[in-house]
Amino acid sequence: MSNEKDQVIEGHSYDGIQELNNPLPGGWLATFYITIVFAIGYYGYYEVLDGPSQAQQLEMAMAKIKDKQKKVAAAEASKPSGETEIDLAGFIADTSAMKTGEEHYKAKCAACHGQMGEGLIGPNLTDKYWIHSQGQAPGLLSAIRKGFPTKGMPPWDAIIPKKDQVALAAYVFSLQGTNPSGGKEPQGELID
Ligand code: HEC
Repeated sequence: MSNEKDQVIEGHSYDGIQELNNPLPGGWLATFYITIVFAIGYYGYYEVLDGPSQAQQLEMAMAKIKDKQKKVAAAEASKPSGETEIDLAGFIADTSAMKTGEEHYKAKCAACHGQMGEGLIGPNLTDKYWIHSQGQAPGLLSAIRKGFPTKGMPPWDAIIPKKDQVALAAYVFSLQGTNPSGGKEPQGELID
């Protein structure tokens, strides 16, 4: 081992410093061979097997980002900002809010959803089935504000004062499970 290590290269002596012919360190060599193997694989994948070019990879990445942006935008659009956390159940004990909500309901909603929310032209608001609103704050508020003009429900945002909209949503929420007689058959999906 030792004589292999310190092989002198004839005539390679400079200012008294003798050059030796030692093998390269194993770790260095291993890295070097790995780069060769990697290069063969890389060339094979991208040049021989026609792997995606950088432009194609960029396109794929952009498509993914655009897709995500669309999903986020759609999710954002479906909930009025800051109101996703409103707990409508908390208003049920508030008799003045319930009274305000009931007044608006009887005056503006009952014609289509029935006096007790049992459903008429509009769907039954007392069951666990929902087409749009999932029976919670963001969906109910959005239904009240924007309505479903193409499906026969007008928007109420400009008519019902902002401060009363949550009370009305809470009143509609309170109708859930009341099971009035003559209830319209369930529509939409079961939301439990
Ligand atoms: C002119 C009739 C009409 C009036 C008035 C009306 N609605 Fe509606 N409403 C509808 C119809 C029709 C639908 C169902 C839309 C659909 O099928 O996509 C609906 C749907 C809803 C939904 C969604 C139900 C679900 O399954 O997701 C809610 C909540 C709702 N209305 C609440 C109200 C409230 C509160 C009022 C009073 C401010 C009101 N509506 C006034 C006709 C009406």
